[in-house]
Amino acid sequence: MSWLNFALLTVLVLVPALLLIKQPTPFDPHSPPPAESRVPLIGSLDFFWRRWDWFAEEKHRLQQQGSSGAFSFWLAGWKVVAPAGIKGREYFFSSSQLDFDGGYAALFGQGPRLEDIGTDKMEGDANQATPQHFSKRIIALLKGGRLGAALPALISDTKARLDELGEEGTTNPFDSIYSLVFLLTVRIVGCRDIAEDRKTLDLVLKLFNDIEKSATMTTILFPWFPGPAKIKRTISAGRLYMILKKIVDERKKNGTTAQDPLQYLIDEGDSMVQIIEFLIGGLFAGLINSGINAAFILCHLGVTPEWKFKVLDEIRTVCSRHVPAEHHHLPLTKQLELLPIEAWENDFPMIDLCLKDSIRIHLHGAALRRNLTGKDLKTNEGDVIPDGALLAYHLDEIHQDPEIYPEPTKWDPARYLPERAEDKKAPFAYVGWGAGRHPCLGMRFAKLENNVIVAFFLARFEYDVVDAEGEKRSDLPPVDRNQHSAHKPEGAERVWLKYKARKE
Ligand code: HEM
Repeated sequence: MSWLNFALLTVLVLVPALLLIKQPTPFDPHSPPPAESRVPLIGSLDFFWRRWDWFAEEKHRLQQQGSSGAFSFWLAGWKVVAPAGIKGREYFFSSSQLDFDGGYAALFGQGPRLEDIGTDKMEGDANQATPQHFSKRIIALLKGGRLGAALPALISDTKARLDELGEEGTTNPFDSIYSLVFLLTVRIVGCRDIAEDRKTLDLVLKLFNDIEKSATMTTILFPWFPGPAKIKRTISAGRLYMILKKIVDERKKNGTTAQDPLQYLIDEGDSMVQIIEFLIGGLFAGLINSGINAAFILCHLGVTPEWKFKVLDEIRTVCSRHVPAEHHHLPLTKQLELLPIEAWENDFPMIDLCLKDSIRIHLHGAALRRNLTGKDLKTNEGDVIPDGALLAYHLDEIHQDPEIYPEPTKWDPARYLPERAEDKKAPFAYVGWGAGRHPCLGMRFAKLENNVIVAFFLARFEYDVVDAEGEKRSDLPPVDRNQHSAHKPEGAERVWLKYKARKE
């Protein structure tokens, strides 16, 4: 074919064909209207490229036309509905017909999948892991009694990691505090074999981070495609699996018992598949949000002196209330070691508010669900969710709504004080701990570890937030709202903490 013919073919056939495909095509006339932005054949890749900007633009465009702002779109073979507004949010979080795990299995990708780990092919193990088994175990492990029993270990781990920082220096909290959170998570839902062996602990954390980074558009949409990210993911998940299997095998073979979560799973008679999937799922769920938020809270406090003062005041008040008077001469960190679990769980409302607004700002991306009922569903607004379709609710739709949260990008824990109560302005206005049918099962532990880390860090160090040149900052760099989940700041977003031991 000559170049002229090829050009003619392109102009006369391919361009109209592509334009035709580019037209928004609804997958069901009764589903919400289709998104405008589409790549031919593949669908709305803006979901990966600029998630929040795109959601906001589509919603705005449709609201201008008088609808709720909900829309639908294709992603490769997936049909996806993006709910919006109060009713859309209510349906998404409350419907008993939407499947939680099915949504995340299809479009999240940050966590290891069964086929990456290899547990889907493990033979001779009758007791397969199920979401119900996972929830049952995590609820049992995060009960108050177990948290109370683990408190001394959580405190001694925190102290040891802060000791490592020395008397003064500069630290990247997204390394030092993040890895401390991982250690505490291993204590609570993992095993002592990893928590007490630094080399294994660091390796397991690295493998988790590698798996998280390998969540690309390609590995999510075409999980069978053997690209570089898929290969890296398979290797990391395989190594993780081998480390965990070796630990479980040795425990079972030697009959050794340790007072830890792994022993609890073994004593309950769980199969190897159930144990490995629990360990991986539990460590992942425990790390992803807690690690980023604990680090961010210290950064936000570092540039917001009035809140740093409020939190320090709270720490001193709690110690003076709970620590016997004869110990009041001790340094604050020593007094903190004497607090009972009830004080750690109930008496730090200011740190709680700091966490609450940090989550609102740093919980990025979309919550996911899937219709696995085998039939089409109808939402409370009459929209059709086809059988097998996914739902993606972008959390910024509510958490960055200026009508609910004025100056929404500003970290401002006072938003939740009774006189402002911004989170009570609308139904489901705060979904940072999940809501409706799927509240976070780790909230109690997440709050406890956050209180311990923030209180010990502030009691021990005076500090400022600095940039790459070591210059003090009075604010934090803007956050990339198009991220898909809580993420460590990169490039121009990076900051460090410059600290010095507090003299008391
Ligand atoms: C700051 C820390 C945390 C935040 C902000 C957070 C947030 C959330 C949110 C928003 C959901 C619901 C997602 C949805 O509706 O689609 C959720 C669910 C869940 N979270 Fe957390 N989480 C945190 C810490 C933890 C920890 C430490 C654990 C366990 C060790 C944990 C375990 C879970 C589990 C198992 C679920 C699923 C619940 C279900 O299946 O119904 N989370 N979390």
